[in-house]
Amino acid sequence: MPETRPIIALDFPSAEETFMFLKKFPDEESLFVKIGMELFYSAGPDLVREIKSQGHSIFLDLKLHDIPNTVGAAMKSLARLGVDMTNVHAAGGLEMMQAAREGLLSVNSATKLIAVTQLTSTSEQQMQHDQGIMTSLEESVLHYAQLTNEAGLDGVVCSAQEAAEIKNVTREDFICLTPGIRPAGAAQGDQKRVVTPAQARINKSDYIVVGRPITQAENPVLAYKSIYDEWNN
Ligand code: C5P
Repeated sequence: MPETRPIIALDFPSAEETFMFLKKFPDEESLFVKIGMELFYSAGPDLVREIKSQGHSIFLDLKLHDIPNTVGAAMKSLARLGVDMTNVHAAGGLEMMQAAREGLLSVNSATKLIAVTQLTSTSEQQMQHDQGIMTSLEESVLHYAQLTNEAGLDGVVCSAQEAAEIKNVTREDFICLTPGIRPAGAAQGDQKRVVTPAQARINKSDYIVVGRPITQAENPVLAYKSIYDEWNN
């Protein structure tokens, strides 16, 4: 079953701003939040523990990409934080992903591990020009998804436009976590391949990640509720 809560991307520069944002929500509301590089590099593991202790679920989005030994060791450190989900770049390769999984499992088997295929900000032309991958964007994404499955990971980060096809070439319960979500009429920002929450559900996303449409909204709680409803109905 897909996760009912949209994952809120906490793209804030500091712990202070993050807590100011979280305080807008009722105390008893358990959120699913994403902590990415910006916040983690400024506020660190203490912030992760604090948000966890407030009863929220956490996707630690650090997109690791390094040699297998380093990524495996880094995953051990992250696993000790007890986050619900974390990730690597599939471009790091099969061996790196296997090492990541082994590192994680050696400490904690509850944390889900997924991989980034192609960033949702990447166009096909950029992929071909910058990465020298001379296939279509879709083929590259499907290839990375299959590689991720082969490495034994739980799923991928992808565009909602690709989710159904990814499940076709992997398995039905392979997690498709999809950023690049915009309610109708919202600013697209730097995202290139966006879909609405309702369309993401139709397209078989299991988790949606929403940042600016909630964090930059005049009323973030209302924006969250409306995206929540659109995703669940
Ligand atoms: O503000 P917005 O809704 O565009 O935020 C999307 C979040 O998802 C950002 O934190 C971005 O880094 C992240 N993300 C993404 N595309 C990926 C992986 C992560 O947009 N493929």
